[in-house]
Amino acid sequence: MFDEHERAQWAGRAVAYRDSLAALCAGTTSALLDAAGVARGVAVLDVGTGTGTVASSALGRGASVTAVDAEPSMVALARGLLPGASVRIAVLPDLPFADATFDAAVANFVVNHVGDPLATLRSLGRVVRPGGRVAVTIWPHPPPVAQALWSDIFAAAGVVRPPDLPRLDPAHDFTRDVDGLSALLRQAGFADVSGSKVAWTHETDPESWWSGPASGIGATGAVLSAQDGPTRARVRAHFDRLTAVFAVVGGRLALPTAAILVCGWVARTSTV
Ligand SMILES: C[S@@+](CC[C@H](N)C(=O)[O-])C[C@H]1O[C@@H](n2cnc3c(N)ncnc32)[C@H](O)[C@@H]1O
Repeated sequence: MFDEHERAQWAGRAVAYRDSLAALCAGTTSALLDAAGVARGVAVLDVGTGTGTVASSALGRGASVTAVDAEPSMVALARGLLPGASVRIAVLPDLPFADATFDAAVANFVVNHVGDPLATLRSLGRVVRPGGRVAVTIWPHPPPVAQALWSDIFAAAGVVRPPDLPRLDPAHDFTRDVDGLSALLRQAGFADVSGSKVAWTHETDPESWWSGPASGIGATGAVLSAQDGPTRARVRAHFDRLTAVFAVVGGRLALPTAAILVCGWVARTSTV
């Protein structure tokens, strides 16, 4: 149910994602690739590559890059951006690669979109060789200022989350902080797990910040898509009012945000 909802959420939305929230997710790229040890000659797998931001950066480091995503429109756009990389469809937790194919694997804001995060991490561990690294990011809970702003906007507009929007099965859920994600990596069999909270300021123009959810992207987009025209207009008015607090020179917004980044090694006598 959750995975079907996710498939529908991303379907045909690659251009909308590239032009809105891809820039937000790009904020962790360097830290993620550093954590995974991605450098010249390293064979790295980027899962849930989206429009290929992280994979592109890995190529720039001289890595040998394979990228996968469940959404065909993402794969099509990423292929265009990533000459020299192998880009294909794969739906996590299934990965169409032999055991120990890669030196490293990364997942930038993907584990928070799958119905079975533990199975996904185990799958990443399976395709990375013993002694290789896996690094993943998620959004923290409670959410940072940039994301919490949407809750404030919805509350001010009297919008509530539609009750029929699927939630992750509690049996598969985990605490969205460094300890919670680290515990999940350990449970998946990774060794020497370490993590940190990465904080930065996301600079964006207001139309880009609006356009992601307005195009139906992410949980916020699912809530906004469920509203009628007058309600959306009300949400937009509160969006303009509440984001104005973060306006900087040129009318752009400077939004404080943060992510959880955790990395683990595939044990040399791996059980993952
Ligand atoms: C928030 S985007 C992040 C994209 C990219 N990693 C980035 O940093 O820009 C999440 C991506 O995960 C993909 N995704 C979600 N569930 C997936 C699954 N089960 N298997 C593979 N990809 C998935 C979506 O299609 C989307 O491209």
